[in-house]
Amino acid sequence: MRVAYPRVEVSLPADAGPHAQALPIDAWYAVAHDREVGASPRSVRILGQSAVLFRSGGELAALRDRCPHRHAPLSDGVVHPDGLACPYHGWRFAPDGRCVAMPGLVDGSPDAPSRRADPLPVRVQDGLIWLSVGEPPADPPRLPLVGQSAVHTLRWRFDVRADPVDALENFLDPTHTHTVHPGLVRTEGSRRRVPVTVRGLPGGVEAVYQEEAQSGLIARWFGADIRESYGRYLWPGLAQLGYRDAEGTEKLVISASFVPASTPGEPPEVDLVAVVSGRPPRWIPGVVMGALLAPFLKRTVAQDKAILERVAPLRDPERRYAMSPLDLLRPHIDRLLADPERLTPSTPRSTRLDL
Ligand code: FES
Ligand SMILES: [Fe+2]
Repeated sequence: MRVAYPRVEVSLPADAGPHAQALPIDAWYAVAHDREVGASPRSVRILGQSAVLFRSGGELAALRDRCPHRHAPLSDGVVHPDGLACPYHGWRFAPDGRCVAMPGLVDGSPDAPSRRADPLPVRVQDGLIWLSVGEPPADPPRLPLVGQSAVHTLRWRFDVRADPVDALENFLDPTHTHTVHPGLVRTEGSRRRVPVTVRGLPGGVEAVYQEEAQSGLIARWFGADIRESYGRYLWPGLAQLGYRDAEGTEKLVISASFVPASTPGEPPEVDLVAVVSGRPPRWIPGVVMGALLAPFLKRTVAQDKAILERVAPLRDPERRYAMSPLDLLRPHIDRLLADPERLTPSTPRSTRLDL
């Protein structure tokens, strides 16, 4: 059975996915944790374009990582109270890009339109730094649970040398878990029939699984009270795995921002900025729960990274991926990336999988 995306014409054949496609430039990407930008500037890349993040006078700023003078990388510079100093001739740039100091200049003002660095849209939200190197929509998406009382949050990052959409799909795909994470996430010998509902959301799509604790070690140890989970994609680069108890209370949400670092012509590279937020049981402190859970999550990530990096060099951009009724979200993700006008809430559709 094919899961159709309601109110959207399904034009792709069920057995053929689209060609490789790039994530859009006119979007917000969560490129770093807020705490990662301190006294030193930090360089980040989106779709091959470099930016520098820094804090000056208590204000977070983002500039293109290129000095207007001789195009030196500003991320190699030094932060001052009034701005970021270029590592070459020391011109200093305020958070809005104005040149506020030019060492050696006696007469005249350092600032002129041609001497300004390019400021970029930047925002701090939910402990993440959201950046755009294009023209982003009004607001970045919100993360569930973060900042609520009795919620403990873990943050980490890693990079994968793989196609960003492939990495994003992998994060949301339950059907590889028996083979890539055997015993850890799910176990081949313990498949159970799971009702799944796929529905469109404002800005994305999600699959909701009526699955009591997954068959692997992680859920048996940490998720005994879980009755339902979801895999959610939010355009263009955010994915979330959420777990709810019988009352529908969210117990754990793993949000992952997939930042396409490379340009489509380069070897693919994606930076992942991940936030794990959970409500630990009352009898166990959040830090203890986090410290116990982290090694399992890191092992899972290492397994995903290994398979994705084996796939990446074999990928033939001339050949479409084969699709099946098990590929619940990928066709929707591809369609939303091809045409963001399809970001429309819609009626849910149900199916079943043996997971
Ligand atoms: S290259 Fe930046 S000040 Fe000269
Ligand atoms: Fe995985």
